[in-house]
Amino acid sequence: MTTDPYTDEAATHESMLRLPSLPSFDPGDPVESAVIRSLAGTWPRRATVKRREPDLDDLFDAARADYPAGLIPFRDDDRFTRLDEPVRARVHAWAWIAYNKNVMDVEQYVVNPGFRLLSQDAFGTGLGDTLTVSTLQAMVDEQYHTLMHLNASALTRRRRGWHMPEARLPYGPTVRHHHAAVAAADTPRESALLSLAYTTVAETSISSYLGLMTDDLELQPVNRATVVLHRRDEYCHSSIAGELLKIVYERLSRDDRHVLLSGLAAGLRAFEANDYATWNAIMAAENVRDGAALVSDAAHDAERRKLVQDCSAIHRLCADLDVVGEVPYEW
Ligand SMILES: [Fe+2]
Ligand SMILES: [Fe+2]
Repeated sequence: MTTDPYTDEAATHESMLRLPSLPSFDPGDPVESAVIRSLAGTWPRRATVKRREPDLDDLFDAARADYPAGLIPFRDDDRFTRLDEPVRARVHAWAWIAYNKNVMDVEQYVVNPGFRLLSQDAFGTGLGDTLTVSTLQAMVDEQYHTLMHLNASALTRRRRGWHMPEARLPYGPTVRHHHAAVAAADTPRESALLSLAYTTVAETSISSYLGLMTDDLELQPVNRATVVLHRRDEYCHSSIAGELLKIVYERLSRDDRHVLLSGLAAGLRAFEANDYATWNAIMAAENVRDGAALVSDAAHDAERRKLVQDCSAIHRLCADLDVVGEVPYEW
């Protein structure tokens, strides 16, 4: 049976490989992943950045709370419940603005720098075009999510008529610990591995962080809609980040693996933590009486250390790699 070289993909490929004018190219060599190949192909149809923007103003409902009461770590404390309603409403709005700031900071200072390392093949794994394209698509998504969350905070400030600038708030735990870990690294390689670890934790766990907001049906509709749209993209990012980590991990030395797994544990502890430095800043910004004591008491309650309870995606990833016991983290 003869094959038509213009319609038979394999034959076309083979004949291209024989052409003397083209550099030799082994299509079997660059690392590939079926999961990522299919996600890269569907990006133009599924990515939020490719869709029409919803009219945020239409979704705003002044009567709804800007942040779920259930996520406020001192919600049941008398010193909080006795505050005047307008003050508590402002605390909710601040909490939403802080939540958006944390999302934006994690995307800008942790996730996209980690994806950039992967897109530049910093770990020398020989990523092919598909993985590189997919990583760059995810970076475009993150840039757009940052814009979405900034728009959401801007809308809250404008519609409520409250100033509430992000500049009053500190970086969240993930960004703080990421900066410290990267700064303390002995070599650029160690720094890159730690960056990859934090990126992987953030990308596999952010759906849970966003889920804290989407589960509350009473929440301000515009806030919920923003997070729902973001979360849709992150289901795919979780798969992409997990696949990329597996590909890199398989090709690392023993020492590099150790650095990476320690980074995953540190990243997890940071990502899941309740952010009491930010709560302190909010209490100070609102001049809440006994605000510092209110926050300090909640912070000393071991049961309230975690905000994000479900980081099972990173556990599954480590189980796939058969390294759960080697990650210095209390699962
Ligand atoms: Fe994102
Ligand atoms: Fe993401």
